[in-house]
Amino acid sequence: MSTSPSPIADLESPLKFAYWVPNVSGGLVVSTIEQRTSWDFDYNKKLARIAENSGFEYALTQTRYAASYGADKQHEATSFSLALLGATERLNIISAVHPGMWHPGVLAKFIITADHISGGRSAVNIVSGWLKDEFTKFGLDWLEHDERYVRTAEFIDILRGLWTETDFSYQGDYYNIDGFTLNPPPLDIAGRAHPEVFFGGNSTAAQAAAGKTADWYFSNGRSLEGFQENIAGVVASAAAGRRAPKPPKFGLNGFVIARDTEAEATETLREIIAKAHRPAVEGFSEAVKEAGQSTKDGKGMWADSTFEDMVQYNDGFRSKLIGTPEQIAERIIEFKKIGVNLMLTCYLHFQEEVEAFGRDILPIVREMEADLARKNGTELNTDLLPVTNLEGALR
Ligand SMILES: Cc1cc2nc3c(=O)[nH]c(=O)nc-3n(C[C@H](O)[C@H](O)[C@H](O)COP(=O)(O)O)c2cc1C
Repeated sequence: MSTSPSPIADLESPLKFAYWVPNVSGGLVVSTIEQRTSWDFDYNKKLARIAENSGFEYALTQTRYAASYGADKQHEATSFSLALLGATERLNIISAVHPGMWHPGVLAKFIITADHISGGRSAVNIVSGWLKDEFTKFGLDWLEHDERYVRTAEFIDILRGLWTETDFSYQGDYYNIDGFTLNPPPLDIAGRAHPEVFFGGNSTAAQAAAGKTADWYFSNGRSLEGFQENIAGVVASAAAGRRAPKPPKFGLNGFVIARDTEAEATETLREIIAKAHRPAVEGFSEAVKEAGQSTKDGKGMWADSTFEDMVQYNDGFRSKLIGTPEQIAERIIEFKKIGVNLMLTCYLHFQEEVEAFGRDILPIVREMEADLARKNGTELNTDLLPVTNLEGALR
């Protein structure tokens, strides 16, 4: 596919790259295939340093409290993120957070502290939840699907209010804030109003809430056409009433299998699926019925995922970042053309493959981005490219 770029594609800005922090056990695919990936802190510390030296600007930690789909051990997201910030120099760490588990004022304060400690590298991914047991077994309310997004939108409004205003007050259905000032405020950094707010979700309700409130909209893996639909939904909601200063940018998940030949990459995908841990994947597909499938229009996360899709539990195979480095770079450029600003990536063997991604794929992406900009009468702003230090990557 080679179409002209969408009006919302940002051809001047280099794409940004992120990876999923493996802070839960079992790797990022529910398969017995060998995964040289560990969920422990030492592994993750080294991985974060490799990533920031390889051209990655963001890492996303996952929030998970209960065993599910094989991820039977988990490190808590905000504390793990803070430790990774301490271990790195340039990487932005996005911590996933559930409204309903946190009070927005407590989180706003926590993130301000992380912002000061890290020189402005702390961000949040607000996720509305799908694992009912995590909430009900903690004795917390489990809200109906679309109502979760009403709470999420209030939560983000309050984070933003507490980060940018003094004497901030808010009366919502879920939270009330009465004339609160958080001191110190977040760091004053050019180009941002406060720590960045990412938002993960695929359903119509998720798109509507993200369009109004988020800095970044994050999606599970999707096809080009599928993600175009999500983008259209978010853009329409943003146009209808935006509470945040700028429209959201777009991030998309993809599981990367880069090999010397397309046949090898496809064979690895086949092996991952052939060795899927069937009971865990089936248990997972039962639990996720609380997500997209429970909505009125039946759209949303995992709503139309097949068994094979769910072996990567964020539908990462659907984005098709599978093939040779050139093929993957081409695919990434197609996503840039429809409006993607950030690729969120995951791998079988994180340390080796994040480094290989920076070495083998990113240079091709950068060349293609520069070409794409020129062909459309503009220039790629190379001042915005992240610093890389591949020699230092494996130290
Ligand atoms: C990029 C991304 C990351 C996510 N991370 C988490 C997470 O760490 N923990 C979690 O419980 N849910 C996570 N979710 C899922 C959301 O909690 C929730 O299930 C999803 O928004 C429901 O989607 P739906 O509204 O499309 O049904 C994530 C979603 C996306 C897109």
